[in-house]
Amino acid sequence: MENIEKGNLLTTGKAKSLYESNNPDFLVMHYRDDTSAFDGKKIESLDGKGTINNKFNGFIMEYLESEGIATHFVELINETDSLVKRLDMAPVECVVRNVAAGSICKRLGLEEGIDLNPPTFEFFYKDDDLGDPMINEYHIKSFGWATEEQVEQMQVKTFEVNTALKKLFSNSGMILVDYKLEFGDYKGELLLGDEFTPDGCRVWDVETREKLDKDRFRQGLGDVVESYQIMAKRLGVI
Ligand code: TMP
Ligand code: ASP
Repeated sequence: MENIEKGNLLTTGKAKSLYESNNPDFLVMHYRDDTSAFDGKKIESLDGKGTINNKFNGFIMEYLESEGIATHFVELINETDSLVKRLDMAPVECVVRNVAAGSICKRLGLEEGIDLNPPTFEFFYKDDDLGDPMINEYHIKSFGWATEEQVEQMQVKTFEVNTALKKLFSNSGMILVDYKLEFGDYKGELLLGDEFTPDGCRVWDVETREKLDKDRFRQGLGDVVESYQIMAKRLGVI
């Protein structure tokens, strides 16, 4: 797209900042090096993370578009910035799990690594102060966070993403363990928003089950950005 200029800072998240542009329908999404976990309780700046995540997200969003899933992504602008459509976001996180890891293990006393067949789905309310509590679709409708149709679409689209990405990762020798998506309305259409990067998913090597995602940061395993780069190289992002 031509003649897009970065405008005023609109919002600052834990890892990204959103800027207005000279077109009211589009925003500039800036990926920072900041890395956070445990609802912002652990924060570090990791050199090169913004760049790798910006490229990674662009690659995945374009792949999803090619698989028929509509997203807010328009184009990469530079190393750390992307142009996106301006969405009215639902304050809801959609999580699909193919393998048990993270909060579901704690909540239900599961051993990490158990296959979930069929994959399971969870909604969370996006609120760090409350620790992103798990919610159900009735909460979303009762509090007006999304309509019944949008709730249905969020579930359907999140599973469509699973079909597309499980295949993509598995073709490159990796297991897509789980991931989080966020959606928003763009002129009456529900689009995939936010990001798909190693910050918001769990991905393991298929042979060794080595963790390549943000669990390396959460669990202090080291080589965080290096692992994101390994994931990106295997997929052909970089
Ligand atoms: P969880 O096991 O902590 O519930 O997370 C499930 C997946 O969703 C995992 O890949 C991390 C991702 N996620 C985020 O990216 N941000 C969040 O705020 C939450 C709760 C999960
Ligand atoms: N993204 C959330 C945070 O920064 C949760 C997580 O990924 O652990 O706290």
